[in-house]
Order: sequence, then C-alpha cells, then structure tokens
Amino acid sequence: MAMINDLENYFSGLVPWRSELLRKLEAEARQERIPIVGPVVGELLFILARAMNARRILELGTATGYSAIYLAQAVAPGLGRVITLEVDPAMAQRARDNIAAAGLSAQVEVQVGDALALMDGMAEPFDFIFMDIDKEGYLPALTRCHRLLRPGGLLLVDNTGFQGASDFNRELAQDPGWRWVNLLARLPQHSPELDGLALAVKILP
Ligand SMILES: C[S@@+](CC[C@H](N)C(=O)[O-])C[C@H]1O[C@@H](n2cnc3c(N)ncnc32)[C@H](O)[C@@H]1O
Repeated sequence: MAMINDLENYFSGLVPWRSELLRKLEAEARQERIPIVGPVVGELLFILARAMNARRILELGTATGYSAIYLAQAVAPGLGRVITLEVDPAMAQRARDNIAAAGLSAQVEVQVGDALALMDGMAEPFDFIFMDIDKEGYLPALTRCHRLLRPGGLLLVDNTGFQGASDFNRELAQDPGWRWVNLLARLPQHSPELDGLALAVKILP
C-alpha cells in the first residue's frame, strides 16, 4: 500500500478547528516566542480529558492560558475544575484574563508560584496532570505527580525531546509506578514541531 505523498505537509493541513480567541493566542505566542502546545496537542488535551471524564485536572506551566483553555473545555461546569500553576505573576494574570475571555473562569484556578513547591502543599487527588514547565523541573515533579494522581490517573508530558528532559525520560522508563509510552511526534504548530510527548498511567507498584 502506498503512503500519501509528502506526509508532513499533508498532516500540517490536518489541524483541528479552534476559536478566534485561541487563534489570537497562537499569533501572540508566535510573535513573543511563547512556547505553547498549539492546536493539535491542545485538542489532544481536550480529547484525553473528555474521554477519561476527568474532573480534577492539574497543569504545570500556564503561560498565557492557551492549554488551560483546552483542558477547561473538557470539564463540565460545576462538575470539574482545572488548577494551573505559573511561576511568573504577570503571565498568570494574562492567563486569567484570557480564561475569562473564553468564559471559563469558573472552571479554572490559576495559582502563582513554583510548581514543585505548590504541589508539595496539595493533597487532592487528580485524574489528569499535564506537565509543561522548565525541563529541569520534570524529574523532581515526577514523584509529586505520582503522589497526586489517583490510581489509573493520566500524566501527559510535553517536550520530552529536550535535553533537559532526558533524566526524566530515563526515570519514567524504569519506575514501576507507571505504564508509559514516550512518542516521537510531528506536531503541527507545536513548539517545536518535532518533539517527544510522554503519556503515563499511574500504576500502584
Ligand atoms: C511552555 S510554557 C507553558 C505553555 C502552556 N502550557 C501552553 O501550552 O499554553 C511554560 C510556562 O511555565 C512556566 N514555568 C516554568 N517553570 C515553572 C515552574 N517550576 N513552576 C511554575 N511555572 C513554571 C513559565 O513561566 C512558562 O510560562
């Protein structure tokens, strides 16, 4: 069976629909070089959260609130919420404004501070955690994610193709507390477009 010609270009044309607001945030991110997940991984976040009927979602690394909006779209108002952690107070405020413009303020709480320190103060179990902070934080965040996820909860980790994530990748691969895959993926409008994406489910060792 023959493959479609010029697969990368072909798949670049297969980008899901999104709102004017999300397109505006994409344009701002391009202009200001803010590394957001883009519309393909954004939609993946929505699909995973919706498919598992996630009610308690934790995001590490908010930036302008782009990915938080996708996550919040997946949780039914009144039934679930997203807590997103951002170390930069100005960015956190920008995210709150964008989330309000999306009409999703009731579903999202933006907390300001270092994600690792904020996680240490949490006890609530989460269904789904999305990790997208500075890569040196990935390895120390891993045990915290395991503690905070319910059994069977899902961890999605962006940018595992970065050098800074290699210790994290090694640890995830040998930790019996997880079932995992680490995908090399071509992701249109993701920053960068060729990158790793890890998915892991919490298993009780
Ligand atoms: C890659 S961007 C997040 C993009 C966002 N998830 C999206 O796709 O729309 C990373 C963000 O995490 C923040 N950050 C980096 N290290 C952090 C840490 N240790 N704790 C909290 N926030 C952190 C940065 O300030 C930056 O805004």
